[in-house]
Amino acid sequence: MEQQAEPQVAVTADPVGAAPAPSGPGWAPVIEARNLTKHFGSVNAVDDLSFAVHPGRVTGFLGPNGSGKTTTLRMLLGLVAPDAGQALVGGVPYRELPEPCRAVGAVLEASGFHPARSARNHLRVLATAAGVDRRRVDELLELVGLTDAARRAVGGYSLGMRQRLELARALLGDPSVLVLDEPANGLDPQGIAWLRWFMRWYAGQGRAVLMSSHLLAEASQVVDDVVIVAGGRLAAQGPVADLMGPAGTSVQVRTPEVARLAQLAQGAGFAVRPGADGSVIIGGASPDQVGRLMAEHRIVVHAMSTLSTSSLEELFFALTDPRRGTSPPPRAPWPGDR
Ligand SMILES: Nc1ncnc2c1ncn2[C@@H]1O[C@H](COP(=O)(O)OP(=O)(O)OP(=O)(O)O)[C@@H](O)[C@H]1O
Ligand SMILES: [Mg+2]
Repeated sequence: MEQQAEPQVAVTADPVGAAPAPSGPGWAPVIEARNLTKHFGSVNAVDDLSFAVHPGRVTGFLGPNGSGKTTTLRMLLGLVAPDAGQALVGGVPYRELPEPCRAVGAVLEASGFHPARSARNHLRVLATAAGVDRRRVDELLELVGLTDAARRAVGGYSLGMRQRLELARALLGDPSVLVLDEPANGLDPQGIAWLRWFMRWYAGQGRAVLMSSHLLAEASQVVDDVVIVAGGRLAAQGPVADLMGPAGTSVQVRTPEVARLAQLAQGAGFAVRPGADGSVIIGGASPDQVGRLMAEHRIVVHAMSTLSTSSLEELFFALTDPRRGTSPPPRAPWPGDR
């Protein structure tokens, strides 16, 4: 394969003092899902899903087990063909990118490293195939903390070590977009703290990081934006700060008169958003205010709960978990439950 120029930005470069890159929701998205749809038999894995990921931001792709996150990422990377819709990276489908490994680095599930080969050999082979300078391999092994284990056979690696090796592989082409499916899996607390630092630093260079996660506490410490999915459908997207609403609380109400309550709450100046299972979330309101509103208008209430707007976890459950508020749960939810 033809040799290409070495990537210009070494990932080990000191980020301090780097000029701020154009970034944020105002800039053109680098990843766009447009009405993505994928069925597996009778399972609607991904259902008319649209969202955008912007440069200079860490975007959390959040959803319960079986909600279609991995399937979406696989469509984004051209590994699965959508039934309908489009996934674009830098405005084009992944398969049309002239130099995919420089545009997108991805870590999905473990991808068949030969167990008898060392991490260093693996990365060297891949670097050569991708036209990347082999010196970068040692730099990357150092970055992900595998230098001491670099000459050991990958077959003997722990889950966390394999995860680090996958990340090094994804970074070979110094990509401007990083896609990580559950990157914290198997990492120890130090590894997780490092990963958090790393993602922030990477995005700080004006690149985009899209990471799926089921670890909400973890995600909330690192993400700027979230895309929340449930049952393959978009539940919410945007900057975390906006989705949380104004300081204070939000109130989630389950009522047979959801449309009327939503209208009344909006009329009273509250931000209103649909919640899981046909409920409504009234942002920036106290339970007293919502209670009074419902009493005044004689609205029947089936359930009401207060959400702390400072917790991504609360927001997530309000948007994705139809069992919220029923206790005790009859069973653990199955993957793919709606
Ligand atoms: N190749 C496949 N064949 C059949 N069904 C599939 C296939 N891939 C995914 N699915 C189904 O599609 C749905 C979405 O799966 P997906 O792996 O995308 O979810 P996920 O959000 O990544 O879940 P998790 O949090 O557990 O990783 C699930 O019901 C899953 O069983
Ligand atoms: Mg998954």
